[in-house]
Amino acid sequence: YWSHVPAAPPDSILGIASLYRKDPEKNKLNLSVGAYRDDHGNPTVLRVVRKVEQEPASDHEYIPMAGIPSFCQAAAELILGGKAKSIIEKRVVTVQSLSGTGALRVGAEFLYQFYHPTATTEKPHVYIPRPSWGNHRKVFQSAGLKVAEYRYFDSSTCDVDGKGLIEDLKNIPCHSIIVLHACAHNPTGADPSEELWKQILQVVIQKHHLVFFDSAYQGFASGDLEKDAFAVRMFEQSGIEMLVAQSFAKNMGLYGERVGALSFVCKDSSVVSCVQSQLETIIRSMYSSPPANGARIASRILNDPVLLGEWKQELLEMSGRIQEMRKMLYEELVSRKTPGNWSHITKQIGMFSFTGLNVEQVRYLREKYHIYMTEDGRASMAGLSRETVSMFADGIHDAVVQ
Ligand code: LMR
Repeated sequence: YWSHVPAAPPDSILGIASLYRKDPEKNKLNLSVGAYRDDHGNPTVLRVVRKVEQEPASDHEYIPMAGIPSFCQAAAELILGGKAKSIIEKRVVTVQSLSGTGALRVGAEFLYQFYHPTATTEKPHVYIPRPSWGNHRKVFQSAGLKVAEYRYFDSSTCDVDGKGLIEDLKNIPCHSIIVLHACAHNPTGADPSEELWKQILQVVIQKHHLVFFDSAYQGFASGDLEKDAFAVRMFEQSGIEMLVAQSFAKNMGLYGERVGALSFVCKDSSVVSCVQSQLETIIRSMYSSPPANGARIASRILNDPVLLGEWKQELLEMSGRIQEMRKMLYEELVSRKTPGNWSHITKQIGMFSFTGLNVEQVRYLREKYHIYMTEDGRASMAGLSRETVSMFADGIHDAVVQ
């Protein structure tokens, strides 16, 4: 039956992580996938998570299709703000999801089935930034939606191309679906300024675009949960309808537990129960109901002021360590007089540095130094440690001058 099946191309991120695992070299370095490591390069379980894990285990019953209600409520409040008008007015629908990817996928499925803003037969396209997280395109395409891009990054300034972005959002058809990274843009680490966010919101309102926020790094970018929610909250306050995907993979270190949420901020509370019921129908046919363990942990932390405080402290520690790695890498490159301007390494925020290395240089680093990063030149700063930063700087220097 399957002789005609061609091999799928390797995933642009997880494919590199798998090459890393196969490399027998002892002194190898994995900067490909965005997963936090401590200063010895080890995976980190947050202290607050360990603490909650010691509490007596509950049963292993199925949880509802939409997930654990206390988790969903707390997740929505975390991103939109506890006093968000949409929450008070009961016009937010939140369902638990299989991390951020699952939230995007369920949201995409819902949009495919129900988003018909105009009488024309042409379905609105989904616009993702260029570049964007390597999986965005696939997630939306697999739900049957057409994906296009808007300009986002200017490699000559290593910053957001604000002019190009606004022009593109103005020129695409009204009612398009716009994917925005809530903070810590992946892969570039370059976020719009507050002023640019305001301009984006204006265009969204003028053109009646539907925003789908992807929030994978709240609290992880600046160390401050409120600050990292700035853009989402500003959009919510404007009263527009929007979707928000949340991941608790990075900020709670719950990667493999697949903890996330999908929220629909609706105009009117009268649509809430129908939207909720259709989301449940989609979830039921895809995977029936989400896993319980990670969301229970997240719910405990989000709903207990003491645990919440402890989590915030750990967020500061993690984001602080990443900042330190950025600074060290920058200084190591400057001290080696590596050709080029490396100031973007400390300017960019979040987990990644978009180094500016080209694909040949990235492959050179992989082959000669056993340093693994994605081929677009993205390196996970969270994968670096005080011990390995000089090895990375040596590799970059060599790759740039050779
Ligand atoms: C990444 O961008 O490396 C992470 O979001 C992990 C993933 O699933 O791609």
